[in-house]
Amino acid sequence: MDLTAVVTGAARGIGRSVVTRLRAEGYRIVAVDVSPAVTDLAEDGRVVPIVADVTLDATPDAAIGRATAEFGRLDLLVNNAARFLRRPILDTTDDDFDALFAVNVRPTFRFTRAALPLLTETRGCIVNTASISGLIGVANQSVYAMTKGAIVQLTRQLAIEYAARGVRVNAVAPGAVDTEFMAEARAADTDPAASLAVTLSNHPIGRMSTPDEVARAIVFLASPESAGITGTILSVDGGYLAR
Ligand SMILES: NC(=O)c1ccc[n+]([C@@H]2O[C@H](COP(=O)([O-])OP(=O)(O)OC[C@H]3O[C@@H](n4cnc5c(N)ncnc54)[C@H](O)[C@@H]3O)[C@@H](O)[C@H]2O)c1
Repeated sequence: MDLTAVVTGAARGIGRSVVTRLRAEGYRIVAVDVSPAVTDLAEDGRVVPIVADVTLDATPDAAIGRATAEFGRLDLLVNNAARFLRRPILDTTDDDFDALFAVNVRPTFRFTRAALPLLTETRGCIVNTASISGLIGVANQSVYAMTKGAIVQLTRQLAIEYAARGVRVNAVAPGAVDTEFMAEARAADTDPAASLAVTLSNHPIGRMSTPDEVARAIVFLASPESAGITGTILSVDGGYLAR
């Protein structure tokens, strides 16, 4: 019996690494992304890519339904798709606020709600991608940090609500990860080199994490090796929060 996962934000960065790691672990995966690049992941039928915007009302049921239609079960949901916004609060518009919550929070709620009945049947797992920005204050990230704080609290809430039903719910909280997400944010800074230097100096290991390092933490939280862990926010931050 092969385990089955749904992963959002799978076309690049952390989500793509999660698909690669899960595939190596023998999972069958429905990989969801608004970017057509997600179709590169289709190889031998073990990864079913879906090009879809997670903010659309139909997407969660379509993705979860595809997992059951193709593979007959669901063991893992990885809520990972998100956008970043680094902007002082006085420059942050109502539209910025609504757009970020629409991508980073509402689909996590809706995918989770669609998946929980199936995860209860398999005593499966949810792993959310939060951020250190959801745990501590970071300047100029007010709305992004609010969205990640919401993910942290949903994780804790559902861990308790579903513990007796055998569903574990955890999150990873990455620090800076070397993905296009960060590169694009830096490119928009007035001095990208100075911005990178500040980022690196905030991480005691002196570098950003790799997407694969975050993916390995996600796979651990989905595996029987973490059977005693639920409601945990696992930092993958090169020591950022230890300072
Ligand atoms: N990179 C970092 O430094 C960092 C740090 C902390 C947390 N995170 C979190 O990690 C997760 C992944 O980040 P990443 O660095 O891999 O980012 P990324 O931008 O490289 O990848 C995100 C993926 O999500 C997809 N996506 C965005 N909006 C979507 C939508 N509406 N519908 C479907 N797909 C959508 C994108 O197309 C992209 O493929 C995010 O939740 C992010 O908040 C990243």
